Amino acid sequence: MERVAIVGVGITRFGRRSDKTLQELAFEAGRAALRDAGLETRDVEFLAVGCAGGWSSEPLPAVVVAEHLGLEGVGSMRVEAACASGSAAIKVAADIVSSGSADVAMALGVEKMNESPTTNVMELIGRAGNYFWEFENFGLTFPGYYALYATAYMNKYGATEEDLSEISVKNHYYGSLNPYAQFREPVKLEDVMRSRYVAWPLRLLHCSPITDGAAAAVLASERVARKLTDSPVWVRAIGSATGSANLSRRDDFLGFHPARRAAQEAYRRAGIDPERPYRHVDAALVHDCFTIAEIIAYEDLGFARRGEGFMLAKEHQTYIGGLVPVNVDGGLKAKGHPIGATGVGMAVEAVKQLRRQAEPGRQADIRQGVVLTHNVGGTGHYAYVTIYST
Ligand code: COA
Repeated sequence: MERVAIVGVGITRFGRRSDKTLQELAFEAGRAALRDAGLETRDVEFLAVGCAGGWSSEPLPAVVVAEHLGLEGVGSMRVEAACASGSAAIKVAADIVSSGSADVAMALGVEKMNESPTTNVMELIGRAGNYFWEFENFGLTFPGYYALYATAYMNKYGATEEDLSEISVKNHYYGSLNPYAQFREPVKLEDVMRSRYVAWPLRLLHCSPITDGAAAAVLASERVARKLTDSPVWVRAIGSATGSANLSRRDDFLGFHPARRAAQEAYRRAGIDPERPYRHVDAALVHDCFTIAEIIAYEDLGFARRGEGFMLAKEHQTYIGGLVPVNVDGGLKAKGHPIGATGVGMAVEAVKQLRRQAEPGRQADIRQGVVLTHNVGGTGHYAYVTIYST
């Protein structure tokens, strides 16, 4: 199998982007990634587009994105793994390159969620929980799903609303330092605790927003990467897993089995000690679609023992300088969560961190040369854990 490197990355500003169409956002990110790689469109042999879609007017995003980027003629596909679609697109592009069937492939994530009103978007996401039993019968939507996990966690381990709020304060702080983030204002604990309830115990400032945006990564074989740069960022390992959509078929509401499986697979492939992964990882980008999800991610990834993830937040151990810096780009909470673009956006940030190119105040200390991304689709329907290294 070929080693695979990321040789170029590009990202748009996340937020409400009524100034650009879906394909224009994709063009902006895709061109930036090619420029960063020092490559032309003619060098790209395959395009994988992460896009969950449904809310925007383009039903076949890979086609319009390829056309807009001047990539007609190459193979392309849309990749869907709910909120992990972007990481799934990275996996497709990486596998295509590592198998030797292409030397250069692009993974591009894009979403235009604001083309539909929030209520419709919430309904569409809600249908992706478990349509028949949970959406159609009970009207469960995603803030409600994660609120169930939050209440189970708080009840079992004694975490409080303030503990959840610490995640929001941290991620808004780092978002305020990231020019590509949707929210650029830091928030105080009191602001979070005063924000309105969306689904108890989750308040507005515990939720990721509705976001438009795009991100792109150019992946290349070792042969090509060595010609382009002296310091490639390697896609060292990917772990992935799928879980049941149906809550009644789950036996654990305090963690996500697929995320744990994906992490174990990624650690095994990367040679990372699963007992103390934080010793090998300089920074992590984790799926904080709701604040409780970041706390659960700490435990699923083995950064904390079960029931102790909220202590990491309380003790500020996931700021730069702590045990392991998490979501120093603002996370989904403040950077934004354009569903299909999120996983590619995490890859862009991992590369930026590993190249030490993050903006002042949010550059992690890179000692081991390893950054981890953790991207969950649905409530653990899909999970991808990816290890990037220099
Ligand atoms: N965090 C902080 N501020 C937010 C926000 C969020 N998540 N969502 C909206 N806002 C702000 C807006 O910027 C706006 O501010 P302004 O009045 O200063 O302009 C204000 O709150 C009202 O925005 P609006 O879009 O009307 O809010 P809403 O009530 O329609 O939607 C949520 C809020 C939380 C319901 C919506 O963002 C949501 O559904 N988020 C979850 C998305 C999701 O489930 N993703 C998949 C996860 S797996």
